[in-house]
Amino acid sequence: MSDRETWATRPGFVLAAIGSAVGLGNLWQFPFKTATNGGAAFVVFYLVAVALVGFPAMLAEFVLGRRTHVNAVDAFSRLGHRKWRAVGGLAVLTGFWILSYYNVVGGWVLRYILGSARGAYFSDPAGYFGSVSAGLDAVVAQAVFLALVVGIVALGIEDGIEKATKVMVPSIVVLMVALAAWVATLPGAAAGYDFFLSPDPGAMVANAGTIIPFAVGQAFFTLSLGMAIMVTYSSYVGGDDNLVADGGAIVVTNTLVGILAGLVVFPILLTIGAEVTTGTGGAGALFVATAAGFGTVPFGRLFGVVFFGVVLIAALSSAISLLETAVAYANDNYDVPRHYLAPAIGVALFLLGLPSALDTAWLTWFDSFAYQVFLPLSVLATAVFVGWVLGRDAVAELREGTGGLGAGGEVWLWTVRVVVVAAIVLTLALGINEMFLVEDAGFFQPF
Ligand code: PHE
Repeated sequence: MSDRETWATRPGFVLAAIGSAVGLGNLWQFPFKTATNGGAAFVVFYLVAVALVGFPAMLAEFVLGRRTHVNAVDAFSRLGHRKWRAVGGLAVLTGFWILSYYNVVGGWVLRYILGSARGAYFSDPAGYFGSVSAGLDAVVAQAVFLALVVGIVALGIEDGIEKATKVMVPSIVVLMVALAAWVATLPGAAAGYDFFLSPDPGAMVANAGTIIPFAVGQAFFTLSLGMAIMVTYSSYVGGDDNLVADGGAIVVTNTLVGILAGLVVFPILLTIGAEVTTGTGGAGALFVATAAGFGTVPFGRLFGVVFFGVVLIAALSSAISLLETAVAYANDNYDVPRHYLAPAIGVALFLLGLPSALDTAWLTWFDSFAYQVFLPLSVLATAVFVGWVLGRDAVAELREGTGGLGAGGEVWLWTVRVVVVAAIVLTLALGINEMFLVEDAGFFQPF
């Protein structure tokens, strides 16, 4: 990067990282993955994965970024390991893949802002979701969302986004708490909490093989790991930041937002009698549930516009962080100005996102592939590099700014070396097994 900057303030880094982390991963994916993977059992595996795999892996990305102060690909050559640049390339590719269908969901959010203003979904929330989530409508909405993302990145007006982020996270929390308090009064609330929060140990054991890959993938997705984002962001961090404390704050905030989303979505879904584990409880969970809620409360239209407006900002700030990473890398290496790069990458993203916009079955397939293959592979490669190649150097870097970690540094190193690596190998094995071998999840038959 030619114009190397550092974050002006320490909260600047933490807030930007939270802005990237808090997004559709928390508000849309988390309830959706919970619904389709067995409810509370999934939540338990997910929380364990965040703590034991996601958090240490995030610190590994931070170490890489802050040690080298360069983009996620060149970081490896800066450390004298040119061959490992492929790992950075894989991360950029993973982000690109994910962004292709993320834009489609961003388009749904745009549609729901308009739909709220008109009260369009009030009479039939599930039917409305079906009609806007795929087909020409979805293609147009995807293009508009993508144009917003490209426009912001091309103009480089990230300042605006930084400011929006500062308002966004608190507003999401306030709105979600208000919604959660209101849905607690619904008749289906108890059943919703039960589905979301009381795991059945028998089911957990029986379904561990299918749940684990999604729980680990969800931890990576929601923490923005394996997509070159956290390496890039931490490359702007000065030496005296406490990476462990920063990472902890990011992980905790991000997890709380996801939990809040679940506390809102499930009581509504069970109240309206939606098929939680499939159909509207799947990709439509957030949209159908909240829309049904807004259809019944006073000032529902206003509530809907504000709510989906906040979701839009959360989605934008995540999408921007991802496109920015790709543009920054290309900009550094090929000397093409960003106002050409951003639209060019945007067109490629649009094309790759087309199948997902035309049919939600494709979206689900792209998403599964990201969860079960791209994200675990990308984080695994980074963990192997940081844990086994950098080793004690990585611990030394992590220690900077912490005022001494004690034995914590060693514990982290061995967690990255063994726990993270083993968990991902297991995830990959289980995920690939399911994609290729399980008959009804045939690899080339998303339908
Ligand atoms: N953590 C982000 C989210 O939860 C993941 C993401 C970041 C996805 C950037 C796309 C782009 O939404």
